[in-house]
Amino acid sequence: MRHRTIIEPFRIKSVEPIRLSTESERTAALQAAHYNPFLLDSDQVIIDLLTDSGTSAMSVEQWAGVMVGDEAYAGSRSWKRMERAVHDLTGMAHVLPTHQGRAAERIIYGHLGGAGKVFISNTHFDTTRANIEFSGATALDIPIAVGRDPKAEHPFKGNMDTVALEQLLREHAGHIGAVILTVTNNTGGGQPVSLANAAEVSRLCRAHGVLFLLDCCRIAENAWFIKDREAGMEALSYREIAQRMFALADGAVMSAKKDAFANMGGFLALRDEALAAACTNLLIITEGFSTYGGLSGRDMEAIAIGLVEIFDPHYLEYRIRSTTFLGDHLHALGVPLMRPIGGHAVYVDAKALYPQIPVTEYPGQALVCELYQLAGIRCVEIGSVMFGTYGADGALVPAAMELVRLAIPRRVYTQSHIEYVAETFEEVLRRREATRGLRIVKEPRFLRHFSAHFAPA
Ligand SMILES: Cc1ncc(COP(=O)(O)O)c(C=O)c1O
Repeated sequence: MRHRTIIEPFRIKSVEPIRLSTESERTAALQAAHYNPFLLDSDQVIIDLLTDSGTSAMSVEQWAGVMVGDEAYAGSRSWKRMERAVHDLTGMAHVLPTHQGRAAERIIYGHLGGAGKVFISNTHFDTTRANIEFSGATALDIPIAVGRDPKAEHPFKGNMDTVALEQLLREHAGHIGAVILTVTNNTGGGQPVSLANAAEVSRLCRAHGVLFLLDCCRIAENAWFIKDREAGMEALSYREIAQRMFALADGAVMSAKKDAFANMGGFLALRDEALAAACTNLLIITEGFSTYGGLSGRDMEAIAIGLVEIFDPHYLEYRIRSTTFLGDHLHALGVPLMRPIGGHAVYVDAKALYPQIPVTEYPGQALVCELYQLAGIRCVEIGSVMFGTYGADGALVPAAMELVRLAIPRRVYTQSHIEYVAETFEEVLRRREATRGLRIVKEPRFLRHFSAHFAPA
């Protein structure tokens, strides 16, 4: 018999209690957190969909690995194991361990960047953009046009616009820091990138002598979509698909907090020896010696094991299907969503949900606050709070889309947790017309969404 029900391919061995709160407690907590759920305590949250980053449940093998972690300063066994795991997967000769993805970004983009340099991506993730801009360089996003339309159905909405890429490679010849393909495209809705698109990006980069990097933190989830949707890929394993994608690139940046099931960690993998040597210098200055970066031996064990576990076909099937389960429920209720449903998260189109709230009053942040207040669900705005800037006249230059991301931690929540989230949206829809926006009352210069203070508009 072939079952319709996709079950979690694991049993629960230890549990972490959730503190259930009342709506009035949450109203007070939200006010105290200045309407920014990043400023809430985790104990104040019932279902935490803020991020899938570092929030995975580790397996029994990973916990066993934690116990055998070798904490030697130099040449640790655990480092050897992690290095081998990254090398076997990526085929890249030089592996630099870092404490998380953005540390690898700071090293490589700090080295390649600087005033006058240009970086091109399908969409830069917020920390990627921040590290590039912090170096003085410019970050340009060129997703395919359909990738900017939340409603459009397309199998590979994360693809890069390769016509625009060729144009930019000519226009900025001699000034390109790197071309970065983010798989899956987190900021663009968790949408996958096809192998054919990656091959064309690679071809163009080679033709123009430009470095091609993968931001590969969700490469296993991306591989699931390729096997499912791209012609000629059915017979390959998920790992083989990922390896084909790595083979096209000159280097890779990974936050191991995603598709390595680790609570902390990351790496930079490179083919070029001279570039790796320059980056290793920076690694030692800011992260730690080259055989641990910013990591404990136990973290490196967990990453080595996670990088293998993530390609388990039963896990990936459950993972993508369970994200789709939430998306399909919300779609059936009439919640406007980014379509099709991506790998690690469901993205709600807050601009379409709340047409009465102008972008200057952040419809996405309004939904984020509504979900917390109604049900203790924490999630994040991916719109003009995260990516808005100010023009010379001080007016908001809004982001392309006003999305709210419901990111699903790996192997953490069960179907009833997800049904609770879906049920909450019934009330969100009932209160839709009465929901009001917010204004920013305090913000830092970079990555303002993490710490900005808001007040009702
Ligand atoms: C696509 C992408 N790149 C880079 C990062 C940064 O990784 P980290 O949070 O480990 O610094 C993230 C984190 O969410 C991400 O989603």
